[in-house]
Amino acid sequence: MQNILIIEPDARYRSRARGALESLSCQVRESASMEEGLRAMLETPPSLVIAGSNEPEAADLKLLRVARQGTRPVPVLVLASSGTTEGAIGFMDGGAYDYIAKPVNPSELLAVVQDILRLAGDASRPLRIAPPADGMSSRSSIIGRSPEMIEIFKMVGRIAKSDAAVLVQGESGTGKELVARTIHENSRRAGKPFLAVNCAAIPETLLESELFGHEKGAFTGAAYSRKGKFELCHGGTILLDEVGDMSLATQSKILRVLQEHTFERVGGEQTLSSDTRIIAATNKSLVEAIERSEFRVDLFYRLKVVSVFLPPLHKRPGDLPLLIDHFVKKYSHQAKVEIRGISRRAQALLEAQTWTGNVRELENAIQTAVVLNRTGTLDLEDFPFLQSAGRTGADDVRRSVLVDLRGAAKRAARVLLAEDSPTSPAGIYYGCLSAVETAVVEAALESYGGNQVQAARALGISRNTLRSKMRISS
Ligand SMILES: Nc1ncnc2c1ncn2[C@@H]1O[C@H](COP(=O)(O)OP(=O)(O)OP(=O)(O)O)[C@@H](O)[C@H]1O
Ligand SMILES: [Mg+2]
Repeated sequence: MQNILIIEPDARYRSRARGALESLSCQVRESASMEEGLRAMLETPPSLVIAGSNEPEAADLKLLRVARQGTRPVPVLVLASSGTTEGAIGFMDGGAYDYIAKPVNPSELLAVVQDILRLAGDASRPLRIAPPADGMSSRSSIIGRSPEMIEIFKMVGRIAKSDAAVLVQGESGTGKELVARTIHENSRRAGKPFLAVNCAAIPETLLESELFGHEKGAFTGAAYSRKGKFELCHGGTILLDEVGDMSLATQSKILRVLQEHTFERVGGEQTLSSDTRIIAATNKSLVEAIERSEFRVDLFYRLKVVSVFLPPLHKRPGDLPLLIDHFVKKYSHQAKVEIRGISRRAQALLEAQTWTGNVRELENAIQTAVVLNRTGTLDLEDFPFLQSAGRTGADDVRRSVLVDLRGAAKRAARVLLAEDSPTSPAGIYYGCLSAVETAVVEAALESYGGNQVQAARALGISRNTLRSKMRISS
């Protein structure tokens, strides 16, 4: 009979996980700490370990290491509470079999466990070849907790240490370069250069010289010989950005570098070699380019040994609040201004946009808003460019916020009306109205740092009315 070991400090999570697995005819054991779990694992090796953790700390990495040793490696499924990039990459890089961010849906957990038991059987394959680096951390921050992004973090963790070529696809601004950089930073090449070459921005003749270098006199204007990116990047990673725009002649030279690691400088005789990992990125369909005979099929297959697809931002709306928060912090820190937060209506306005320029467009919008802001709270007037582009967007936001408010007030009134000893109905009526008035006045004062003139103007009431409402609420 297969047996599953659940290692989780929180008793509620342990019993929830046990409950999710009830329908399996497996023996389930529980441990409340990594140390205890490690002992239980060594005593009777389980078919699968489910480990709850926050971040990949020393104890977790030790568990992963021990699980991968021995003749029958034990697959470890990590249930992580923080859901950060570093966490997901660290666990996968440490050899975790799979990773799910909490809160975990019981049917999802059951499905993943069934998959692991079926695929791995008792002879699980270790995912990582190189030993894990204890306490590793990533310098680039890819933000996201949507299932799509979690899959990408897992993929980055799995492939970072190998030398395989990677093809990163996605619309403009989805984070292709960021992903390439993260792969580099998590690889054994981390201390070596990461160089990006934009194949679309450089004329064809210069692109070859940019990549492979040239000898003196190779072409008009080549007064000196010069090293190319492949020579400069030895030991590191090169990002061939917009690879779909590369000419067929250059493509065949890249193919040779991929196969033999060799090339010649433009106008040079000597064959040079370079140990460089190639990551290619494109926002165009390479399949269509192949159909138009503009891209080599063999290069396509060599590049897409590992393929990462970044979905457009509007397909992962759950990531928006995290990204907004991240960029507000990043740019207020950079501009040395204190931004306390973002108003609900501004947040709703941002969430209502389609962001055709993806994360880059969102990032630019927040950077501009932080510069425009005078109050310490980002609000609608800090995003005039978004409103003018879609006035109806702001109107929709206002409408939906008011509908929310009505719903909340209704729920509150129902609770009061259903109380055993009800306040007089008139008391409920005025009580609810004054609670809403107080909330509105407080929010306006908070948004304008206590400035009554500005708060009253924003609410569309006189300062005297505002003051009388403040007296009532105090
Ligand atoms: N998930 C993310 N978390 C944090 N920042 C992100 C994320 N995705 C993208 N960014 C930021 O958005 C900007 C654009 O990202 P990047 O340059 O990697 O996109 P790209 O896909 O290469 O775009 P293009 O196709 O236009 O070259 C960068 O400043 C990057 O740091
Ligand atoms: Mg790019």
